[in-house]
Amino acid sequence: MTAEASRKTMIDEERILIALDVESRAKADHIVHELSGSAVGFKIGLQLFTAAGPDFVCELCSAGHRVFLDLKFHDIPNTVAEAVVSAARTGAWMINVHSIGGSAMMARAAEALRNESQQSGIEPPKLIAVTVLTSSDQKTMNELGIGGTVEETVQRLAMLAKEAGLDGVVASAKEAAMIRHSAGNDFLIVTPGIRPANATLDDQKRVTTPADAIRAGADILVIGRPVTAAQNMQKALNSILEGMDSPTDDN
Ligand code: C5P
Repeated sequence: MTAEASRKTMIDEERILIALDVESRAKADHIVHELSGSAVGFKIGLQLFTAAGPDFVCELCSAGHRVFLDLKFHDIPNTVAEAVVSAARTGAWMINVHSIGGSAMMARAAEALRNESQQSGIEPPKLIAVTVLTSSDQKTMNELGIGGTVEETVQRLAMLAKEAGLDGVVASAKEAAMIRHSAGNDFLIVTPGIRPANATLDDQKRVTTPADAIRAGADILVIGRPVTAAQNMQKALNSILEGMDSPTDDN
């Protein structure tokens, strides 16, 4: 299914990935259990993956959960191609690489997933790219010798990912409209830094409400602490879902 077609069939809950940013599978299991009544997916990043390992990913996927395995691969093309195949074998629904690894690396990864899918008969995970981390700013670009503004770099890397055959990118909501405009509708935009109106920012600096992120062109929202740090996670999620229909102009 194309990114555009899958977006159209998604209900709001399916657009949300809850970030399991915890140090143990026991804590992750608790969050998954608390949200078992909803259709949200889960994001497993470096912290939990390093602690709990691929078996935990396999178990979550086997239990029917959509998992975004956020390991941000960046290495020589051959190594990344082998790594994405291993990641795909966990059953993950979405995986990612760093676009800064270049088009040859991204294209090899996409090709390896297609080959693996042909051999296994299983639909490949969506392969997306990180453009510029939101923790990087103009100073970081300058010290790395990357010319142009952060926005120009984000746009260039997003187009590189699209041309290499990737399904989409991770990007802040502030960049979503620009990417949607240049990459078109058939390209997934996955957006972290989401905070419901009036929520605490934690360590996020540039935040967007769920409704505004979607209005800007985001397909999938990554949400962590606004749900996982709540006393009642399901209630916090429900209130986010209710707010998804009501864009605000206050950010
Ligand atoms: O708790 P919070 O909602 O801030 O979690 C956001 C998640 O998205 C975290 O896992 C964080 O690492 C991730 N992320 C981010 N900004 C990026 C890329 C990923 O916040 N640019």
